[in-house]
Amino acid sequence: MRDPINVKKVDLSVKFCGLEFENPFILSSGPPTSNAEKIGRAFEAGWAGAVTKVLGSKPRPDPHPRIAGLHYGGKLIAIENIESVIYPLKEWLPKITELKKKYPEKILIPNLMGGADPEIWQGMIKDVQEAGADMIELNLSCPLTDEVWAVGAILGQNPDLTREATRLAKEVATVPIMVKLTPNVTDITLIAKAAERGGADAISAINTVQGLIGIDLENMEPLPSVRGISSFGGISGPAIKPISLRCVAQIAKTTKLPISGIGGISKWEDAVEFFMVGASTVQLCTSVMLRGNRMINELKDGVSSYLYKKGFGSVKEIVGCILSKLKSQENLDYSYWVLPAVDAARCTKCELCRVACQDAGYAAIKIEGDLPKIDEEKCNACGLCIQVCPHGALLLKPSLSNKSNK
Ligand SMILES: Cc1cc2nc3c(=O)[nH]c(=O)nc-3n(C[C@H](O)[C@H](O)[C@H](O)COP(=O)(O)O)c2cc1C
Repeated sequence: MRDPINVKKVDLSVKFCGLEFENPFILSSGPPTSNAEKIGRAFEAGWAGAVTKVLGSKPRPDPHPRIAGLHYGGKLIAIENIESVIYPLKEWLPKITELKKKYPEKILIPNLMGGADPEIWQGMIKDVQEAGADMIELNLSCPLTDEVWAVGAILGQNPDLTREATRLAKEVATVPIMVKLTPNVTDITLIAKAAERGGADAISAINTVQGLIGIDLENMEPLPSVRGISSFGGISGPAIKPISLRCVAQIAKTTKLPISGIGGISKWEDAVEFFMVGASTVQLCTSVMLRGNRMINELKDGVSSYLYKKGFGSVKEIVGCILSKLKSQENLDYSYWVLPAVDAARCTKCELCRVACQDAGYAAIKIEGDLPKIDEEKCNACGLCIQVCPHGALLLKPSLSNKSNK
């Protein structure tokens, strides 16, 4: 049994861009940070920091509705938003000052979106600094592209514009500048390196993945439907985690900047994965929209217990710890061979493994005496049956077989 006193000794605090975060958990820019009251409640619940909903000099409204979901197996695994609101910066300045006065130890990060005009960017940065912001997130990543307003992704999809926007911000910045990147590019490392060259103090990644979540078949309308019309929006939630994890790992491998990992984090295990690929803080939006601020307790307890169990005393000890194990494909050991083994106690005889192996694998599974039996000669150890089994009744075990690669 774990000794609870020792778990408490695990240090969840992190230093990020020279700032002390009491834990690595930050509310990401979005509906949970759309007003000062919500941010205040999140701080009281235990979040170490919050990034405000996007602020700008040219406010714009929202469509209704603006959120649609992707359900799979009875679970909501992603949402698309076509939220387009930009809150007026001037109205937020006194709120930033008030929040900092009430919660001086919490980290408050305005999320700013400016246009091509350098004076607008620099003016906004000076304003939020004066109001008391601890650091600033440059939103170069809003996926909602339309001709009039798409300053976010248009900047963040172009390395030269990213470098220039960062450089302009740094010219007047007295607090750290974190550049928030879009995954909607061919190679995110080119944009991350451009931000680094522009003088960024940190990278946050990722913003939402541009997508179309689905079609209402009955009414033949794209979703979310605003009187029958929709537009491509931003996808977030658990389904985007493989994309965000890959982006963070790529950025960590190619820049020296500290990273705030974002995208699909819904449980403490996800956060640990982000630390391992190089993030030293993490941000959450969709899961807080679905479950509320109180999930912070599970996040903190889960990460503390994991670190203790593994013999670590702090988050920073695991930041980037698996990066050296991510290599290009030719570095894999092609002589390694594993075979599936059946755990009879767990098998419910549903035969999903047999069907998958027959129609998409190597027809290596037969049912014998009610149980799946692996034909080791035919099996190619692809791993499909293990993923298909809903009960964890198949495991991959390193094989003593000296069968060579087929
Ligand atoms: C409804 C909604 C509104 C968002 N608004 C903003 C925003 O104003 N500025 C911004 O940088 N990111 C915004 N985001 C993106 C999130 O901050 C985050 O990068 C993204 O949702 C991925 O994280 P998640 O899977 O934890 O939600 C928004 C996301 C959602 C779902």
